[in-house]
Amino acid sequence: MSVIQAVRWSDDGLGVRIIDQRALPATYLERDLRTVDDVCNAIATLAVRGAPAIGVAGAMGLVAALTPHAGEDAPAFARRLAGYAARIRATRPTAVNLPWAIDRMRVRASDPALAGDPARTLAALRAEATAILDEDRAMCRAIGEHGLALLPNPARVLTHCNAGALATAGIGTALAPLYLAVERGQHVSVLAGETRPLLQGSRLTAWELGRAGVDVTVLTDSMVASVMREGRIDLCLVGADRIAVNGDVANKIGTYAIAVLARHHGIPFYVAAPSSTFDPKTPSGEAIEIESRHADEVRRSFGMQTAPLEARVHNPAFDITPAALVTAFITDRGIEHPPFLSSAPPAREVSAR
Ligand code: MRU
Repeated sequence: MSVIQAVRWSDDGLGVRIIDQRALPATYLERDLRTVDDVCNAIATLAVRGAPAIGVAGAMGLVAALTPHAGEDAPAFARRLAGYAARIRATRPTAVNLPWAIDRMRVRASDPALAGDPARTLAALRAEATAILDEDRAMCRAIGEHGLALLPNPARVLTHCNAGALATAGIGTALAPLYLAVERGQHVSVLAGETRPLLQGSRLTAWELGRAGVDVTVLTDSMVASVMREGRIDLCLVGADRIAVNGDVANKIGTYAIAVLARHHGIPFYVAAPSSTFDPKTPSGEAIEIESRHADEVRRSFGMQTAPLEARVHNPAFDITPAALVTAFITDRGIEHPPFLSSAPPAREVSAR
């Protein structure tokens, strides 16, 4: 099974090669990000998106943007590094993976052994960004392996947004167990909620699963309740942008509705996420900043007028699902069942399957 690679180094190593997700599913386009403007614009406009992917792209993008400046004197390079890191870190507020990755890069750069040497600092940052990339790939695979234990055979799985290969550096989070199950001969059919307003489910999840040969059917978001009532969903499996210490989950708008419906219909609701998505600094969902996006995403969906242009629009990109609605977390460290009140990784208690 061939799964795409959403983020990697460009062939010359000087840029970050992404799949431009704005153009999918009609057009497959790869783009190299080389400047801080390229990186910030790609993340802000969702050319690269998905919590783990923006963390990886942010860290690698910092390196790409700094590369032409390794010859600067040390104070100028340090100022540039701080400025670029702050700009990239601020592009999207909800997914914790982005500040997590940028802060990790800044900690690496602050090693006293590198002080006063931009070239060595840059080399160390490149190694750190590559480690973040490789670790993300490994975490996706581990999530896939652990998640297999929760899938019946056959399995009919509802997912939301895109928590697949396009959203990570590897085989995805929520979609990882599904890829591995299909690879191992299990019968899996996926129902992909379209995910208004930017349609990550129908544009991206249906595209990446379809090209990998996984059985997938697109639903509009408003169909979920009746499809559940008809008994056509065995389990729900979604990703996350930030998970608070108490287990509250920020994920794509619409996730909370699915969790409520799943509880009503007695369907398990699983959240798959790598360690980098668990935020030890956020006690509960109330403390998570929800990104509010431009009204034109609703008023002019994909270039067509879809609401009166003067209409007031409410467009939060994410919602909070209370921990009480989560059946279990699937992480790279194992399956975590309630109660979720525990300390942050690595101290969180998880049971390997
Ligand atoms: O606005 P997006 O497309 O970046 O939102 C992405 C999501 O909400 C995903 O479900 C989440 O990042 C998990 S990705 C593995």
